[in-house]
Amino acid sequence: MRESEPFVDIHCHLLPNVDDGAASWAETLAMARLAVADGFSTVVATPHQLTNFVHVPIETIRVRAAETTRFLADQNVPLVVRAGAEVHLGANTLSCWQAGYLLSLGEHERHLLVELPFESHFPFDDLLGVLRERQIVPIMAHPERNRALLAEPRHVADLVSQGVLMQLTAGSLTGSFGPDVQAFAEQLLADGLVHFVSTDAHGPRVRPPLMRAAFERVCELAGWRTATDLCCRHGTHVADGGQITVDSVRKRRRVFAWWPRRKAA
Ligand SMILES: [Fe+2]
Repeated sequence: MRESEPFVDIHCHLLPNVDDGAASWAETLAMARLAVADGFSTVVATPHQLTNFVHVPIETIRVRAAETTRFLADQNVPLVVRAGAEVHLGANTLSCWQAGYLLSLGEHERHLLVELPFESHFPFDDLLGVLRERQIVPIMAHPERNRALLAEPRHVADLVSQGVLMQLTAGSLTGSFGPDVQAFAEQLLADGLVHFVSTDAHGPRVRPPLMRAAFERVCELAGWRTATDLCCRHGTHVADGGQITVDSVRKRRRVFAWWPRRKAA
């Protein structure tokens, strides 16, 4: 097993009783313990906003994230929890953003986690333009699991060229979503189109908050430094309100390309 810096999850349905994630405080506790044992220091909790079946209001997310922080401290679980959301893209996303209904990751107003409808590549140029004006960077959740992108992978590169960062689900890299999704995830990684790996965890048993196996897989496919960027450092920037963009990642990669590679432990 290779050593790693602490993992940081920017996509996790950890908060209890708000969406299809943790269904109780006991499940939240179990998820948090699993995450800490796996090597996580920080989780940005991302309940769904604007899907057909659930929209969690900002105030609910803020209150529940603060309650979760206190609860985990009382239980001696050393996991930092920040508030965020996974925003489903649709016809009303732009108006909801402009009305202040949507939560950025860590509430830093720097990154917005967005999710495409699973069956389609929804055009969201208007929203991209508004976000760009306000220097807010969209992060696309699990592009490798979107059927339209799977059928036309070139859209991923188009979106990255427009400044959209890409987040893979950890389980996609280890085969949890089938061979086609795994192959697409590996291709995106090989093409340099991946910026984060996150768990998208929904519970302690089904889709648990585990990163270690995906980290190992990225080490095999792309090296320790890339695995550390995708599983640890880029997420740390987002959780702490740092600036991370397609351009900053590209510049950083160019610099690191000249550095000697760290030996795996
Ligand atoms: Fe999710």
